[in-house]
Amino acid sequence: MLEELHRWVGGARLASCLLCLFALGCSEKAGTEVTPLDAYCPIDAAEVEARIDALLDALTLEEKASLMHGVQIIPVDGTWQSTSIPKNGIPGFHMLDGPKGVGVSSLLAGANGANTTAFPVAVARSATWNPELETRVGAAIGQEARAVGADTLLAPGMNIIWHPLSGRNQEYYGEDPFLAGEIGVAFVRGVQSMGVIANAKHYTANHIEDTRLDVNVNIDERTLRENFLPQFRRVVEEGGVGSVMTAYNQVNGSYCGEHSMLLGDILKGEWGFSGFVVSDFLWGTHNTVPSALAGLDLEMQIANVYGQPVVDAVNTGELDMANVDDHVRRILRAQFCFELDSNPPVLDDSKLETEETLALAREVATKSIVLLRNEAEFLPLSKTKAESIVLVGPLADAENLGDTVGSSAVMPSEVVTIAEGLLARTDLASTIEHVPGDLGDLDDQAKVSAADVVIVVVGLTDEDESEGQTRPPAPMLGGGDRDGYGLPMDDAAFLANVLSLNSKVVVVLIGGSAIDMSPWFEDTEAVLMAWSPGVQGGHAVADVLFGDAHPSGRAPMSFPASIEDLQAFPRMALDVTYDRYHGYQRLDKNGVAPFIPFGFGLSYTMFTYDSLTANTQSVGQDGVVTLRLSLSNTGTRAGVETVQVYAGAISPMVDLPVRKLVGFAQVRLDAGDGTTVELEVPVRELAYYEEGEGWVVGPGLYKLEAGPHVADLPTSVEVQVR
Ligand code: BGC
Repeated sequence: MLEELHRWVGGARLASCLLCLFALGCSEKAGTEVTPLDAYCPIDAAEVEARIDALLDALTLEEKASLMHGVQIIPVDGTWQSTSIPKNGIPGFHMLDGPKGVGVSSLLAGANGANTTAFPVAVARSATWNPELETRVGAAIGQEARAVGADTLLAPGMNIIWHPLSGRNQEYYGEDPFLAGEIGVAFVRGVQSMGVIANAKHYTANHIEDTRLDVNVNIDERTLRENFLPQFRRVVEEGGVGSVMTAYNQVNGSYCGEHSMLLGDILKGEWGFSGFVVSDFLWGTHNTVPSALAGLDLEMQIANVYGQPVVDAVNTGELDMANVDDHVRRILRAQFCFELDSNPPVLDDSKLETEETLALAREVATKSIVLLRNEAEFLPLSKTKAESIVLVGPLADAENLGDTVGSSAVMPSEVVTIAEGLLARTDLASTIEHVPGDLGDLDDQAKVSAADVVIVVVGLTDEDESEGQTRPPAPMLGGGDRDGYGLPMDDAAFLANVLSLNSKVVVVLIGGSAIDMSPWFEDTEAVLMAWSPGVQGGHAVADVLFGDAHPSGRAPMSFPASIEDLQAFPRMALDVTYDRYHGYQRLDKNGVAPFIPFGFGLSYTMFTYDSLTANTQSVGQDGVVTLRLSLSNTGTRAGVETVQVYAGAISPMVDLPVRKLVGFAQVRLDAGDGTTVELEVPVRELAYYEEGEGWVVGPGLYKLEAGPHVADLPTSVEVQVR
């Protein structure tokens, strides 16, 4: 796999990018200067462009227009395809979802019914804060995509988590654009190392599921630039992502699929994107000429507004041929640069659900678990002390894969449930009994009361949160946006019942987003957020509960104390205006304490932070600050810590976030060991966006703070920006 990675990323760039993975903030641009086209195209870009020039001369207008749309609503031979023209050597695209694995089973997808690896959902993977791991996940998904015949993967989901109640949060990498950018770039590199085109979606502000096809999201330009675009920019500029998908919704009065500022000015203009823009499927296009003029290159999954109307618009002079040629050029560039013609995917069952992909799914799930509470070191549970452990809860024997009805659905052949993962442990002195059902039976209640430890698995399923709205006659997919911030009512009642029977309770939470724990948190001994942990989730939970793995996940989103601490979630809105701040920046700004802060996660050991220093007291606008701090493991077990660095201006002249994440580094330390952690923060990370001016770093004093999460930053240093 590494050899392939070399082929696609290039030796020198790979070396620099692997070094960058942990000392974050470094840019892919370090090293040889490349033009955007060379950076996009892993093979000889000039040769590809010459080949396209010749084709643009040879193809008729009708043929060109045909290349700009998909061919059928139902997947053909298991993938969604765009037009191919074999006589001219044009292969077309063969697409499949998605964000947690290759989508083969949903209502919409196909892939010949193959089974593929269901990884933990994207939000879980961002909880690992581990880009290197995410590159491996991307490569594994890319490999499976090729093995079922797909050359284009409809992932990663690059929207940030704007609000805990959005139905598709599980498909995104947390609330912070910096974290999402780091993990997203890593995923894209992995996928594309396999010769598969990645697709950054849904560009942009796709956060409300229930009205996603219509809602108009008003966002002032500064908020848009600072909160909703940076992570897309990074997958374009640093990840070299092959394609971008427009969102269904409108932004500031224009559908994203015909948004000339988002597509033409920013994506293709400012960011120099050389790839192609595809519409979100079936309902993502509205008008032929505005879409073509704005920069939508490909309409999926059939010709609703492209096709003959494009031909007509050229014939009437509403569109000129140069516009059509640019769309076709981008489509062909992706197909040729990624060698879809000369090195097409080959069906190969032996590359699906391999030992390696399953082991990787387990590793990721283990590393994504966030330990939220651990009273008096209740966990890890002992492997040598004989105790009676009872496992209960509606999700204890569920598959817990997250969305199983929307486009991110994946169908693995076998899922290790939490019950199976725990019961598979034959190395324990304790006995584990799974008591299924609702505990209505008196014998079952007695078992729970008598247990030394009760493990309860509760949380969200795709009836509570998922992709949702479609246009009739297509059915609603899943539950869409969430009804509320708490546990579903039945789960809450179940948990209350368990807590009334026994106080030695460990809660394992399932879900793709923050959940209100305030009604019951204090009554438990321990709480783990296991997210939707994927095909090996049961083993991962057991690994963490019994201390075979160290809990190293960190919350990639805030869990507010009250949902009212955030902007109201406008579930049914057709028009909404986003506030300036969301997530931890909003809570910080309003001086409101979160229930679980962004970046938080307990560990089975203790880390101590010592004096942060900077290599300079004063730095220019183009500079980079090198930070150092000493980190010690002062506990009794080995562990992994994620050092987080936040920056804020001390006396800003304009409204700025109190602090924002600008870097992180992950370190594994044995008990008693210490190390010096070094991170680089480019000054440009301190910039804000000023309308009419662009990105500005205000001169003045900045505070750089380091610690284990946004609400605990024990050490800081001040640096003057000139
Ligand atoms: C979803 C996309 C997905 C596409 C194809 C749409 O409804 O919003 O995320 O890639 O369907 O499945």
